[in-house]
Amino acid sequence: MVPVIAIDGPAAAGKGTLARRLAAALGLPYLDTGKLYRAVGRRVLDTGGDPADPAVAAAAARGLLPADLDRTDLRGPEADRAAAQVASIPEVRAALLAFQRAFAGTAGAVLDGRDIGTVIFPDAAVKLFVTADLAARSHRRWLELQARGVAAEPASVTADLSARDAMDAARAAAPLRPAADAVRLDTTSLDPDAAFAAALAVVRERLGGLSG
Ligand code: C5P
Repeated sequence: MVPVIAIDGPAAAGKGTLARRLAAALGLPYLDTGKLYRAVGRRVLDTGGDPADPAVAAAAARGLLPADLDRTDLRGPEADRAAAQVASIPEVRAALLAFQRAFAGTAGAVLDGRDIGTVIFPDAAVKLFVTADLAARSHRRWLELQARGVAAEPASVTADLSARDAMDAARAAAPLRPAADAVRLDTTSLDPDAAFAAALAVVRERLGGLSG
């Protein structure tokens, strides 16, 4: 079976760092699926459109190009909001489904997002649901912004994260929730090395000899 490792969870839980390290350790390609929704949101904003408009957002999703994923303006509060808005539109999700499935090809992949284990790869060999409490996630996101030279009030970072999580969890289309067979990993009190060690132990157990 093609080894697919699905990593889902709320914003700023450390999914990306973990997924990237797992992919490197296992020699698998890595896809940050949040980038797809971010790039769709950006395309809509470029045209002055409303990211919550289903027709406009679906057209942007269908027209997505690989180069859109390399844009340097996919992060920040405006991009975060637009991504979550387009992500709640079923036609947008449908337009991005085939690309995500094809990405794993025959070699397998590590993908992180919100619905990888529930919708995109319900048969994934390994499913991790990575969480951390809101204060920890908010602090990490604030540190990231600081490192990028972006000034932000801690309270507004917390408010943005919690609004986005609420929207992702409440939407009807592929809401944020753990798959029934996902292993939960709470990283609140784990540093990146400890989170990686815990995740690798789960992967090894699930994939057996494959992960070396
Ligand atoms: O993971 P990231 O924070 O970059 O995702 C941005 C937004 O894209 C999320 O808040 C969510 O609304 C959406 N998303 C999604 N499904 C995924 C990945 C991201 O709905 N698989």
